[in-house]
Amino acid sequence: MSARRLPRWGEIAPLIGARDSSLSRHQARLERCASVADIRALAKRRVPPAVFDYTDGAAGTESTLSRSRNAYARVEFTPRVLRDVSQVDLSTSMLGAQSELPFALAPTGFTRMMHHIGEPAVVSVAQEAGIPYGLSTLGTTSVEDLAAIAPDARRWFQLYVWRDREASEALIDRVRANGYEALMLTLDTAVGGIRLRDVRNGLTIPPQLSLRTMSQMALYPRWWGNLLTTEPLEFASLSSTGGTVGDLLTKVFDPTINAADIEWLRSIWTGPLIVKGIQSVEDARLVTDLGVDAVVLSNHGGRQLDKANVPLEILPAVVEAVGDRVEVYIDGGILNGTDVVAALAFGARGALIGRAYLYGLMAGGEDGVRRVVSILRKEIMTTMQLMGVTSIDQLDPSMVRLRSTPN
Ligand SMILES: Cc1cc2nc3c(=O)[nH]c(=O)nc-3n(C[C@H](O)[C@H](O)[C@H](O)COP(=O)(O)O)c2cc1C
Repeated sequence: MSARRLPRWGEIAPLIGARDSSLSRHQARLERCASVADIRALAKRRVPPAVFDYTDGAAGTESTLSRSRNAYARVEFTPRVLRDVSQVDLSTSMLGAQSELPFALAPTGFTRMMHHIGEPAVVSVAQEAGIPYGLSTLGTTSVEDLAAIAPDARRWFQLYVWRDREASEALIDRVRANGYEALMLTLDTAVGGIRLRDVRNGLTIPPQLSLRTMSQMALYPRWWGNLLTTEPLEFASLSSTGGTVGDLLTKVFDPTINAADIEWLRSIWTGPLIVKGIQSVEDARLVTDLGVDAVVLSNHGGRQLDKANVPLEILPAVVEAVGDRVEVYIDGGILNGTDVVAALAFGARGALIGRAYLYGLMAGGEDGVRRVVSILRKEIMTTMQLMGVTSIDQLDPSMVRLRSTPN
């Protein structure tokens, strides 16, 4: 019979899942999130419902968003075996420069509402991860401040062409002067989409201290404390109006925008020009003929036209039509690394990630964004290894198909 002894702490700690002492409680909480879905659940507990809904929601019945997600649920891979997958290269080239991962962090407006640090947290992670990040025209950090915070990041600037073209030109001058690599023109926003959650929540810019919001303060003290004790929450590139987000967008967006505006942009911006919000083969051809460098198949994450088509479903036809002349990116509904791999196999040069990193931002600021990028990296790597590929250029359409139903 073996002699008994008291266990040592070093032996018990791993058994009871004691926290790695190098991690703060906050980081340990994020580490326990195994997926972006877990991060989303944590985010929901961290911010007031109107803020979560603004991020999580979409337009109308939200069917554009749910269909995009459903398309990824229908993905089926054909893996290959008997290949050495011990070393995997996740990098790819976007706009002729290396991106360490095959995705970029998408432009999102009003980011300091999700977390008081906002865009600086996102760009810092992008710089560290070696991937591009797009600052939005509706961002809450100025073009200059973002450049100063992350001078070495691959910074893109997402442009909404305003009714006032001279003001747009002045903004583009600042973008150029601050070393932004590319201009990304968003085209799916002739007017603001009808985002019912925001209407119902009465979400205004800036958030108003109504009776309802004040009653929530006790439930989200940290969020409110940060809002009230840091720089006022406002757009960095335009003056806030106090209306709902939809009102503001409709005031800012120019519904007259047309092909001549792309020619105008091409004449004043000589760097890479990306056009975001393309939703048909015809428009992909049109903007390619106008000399853009890349297109993003996107329906704005379902936040604009309800019942718009699904980017993943039109991707092969768009790649076939213009893929030899421009880079084709895709976004909308991507919540894990497997989705990214599927998009690449169908022919996308890269993906854009929106809500996934915003859930991280709401859940834990910069650490939360970092955790999301790390989850996606791990999922992309594992998916590729299990598919039998060791580099992005080995992915091709023969390895993937869309089933008719998710199951
Ligand atoms: C909260 C939020 C704000 C956004 N703001 C902008 C914006 O200012 N400009 C823009 O071009 N796209 C904006 N988008 C769209 C994203 O760039 C991207 O197309 C979309 O989020 C991709 O879908 P996903 O969130 O499902 O990944 C926004 C998306 C969200 C969720």
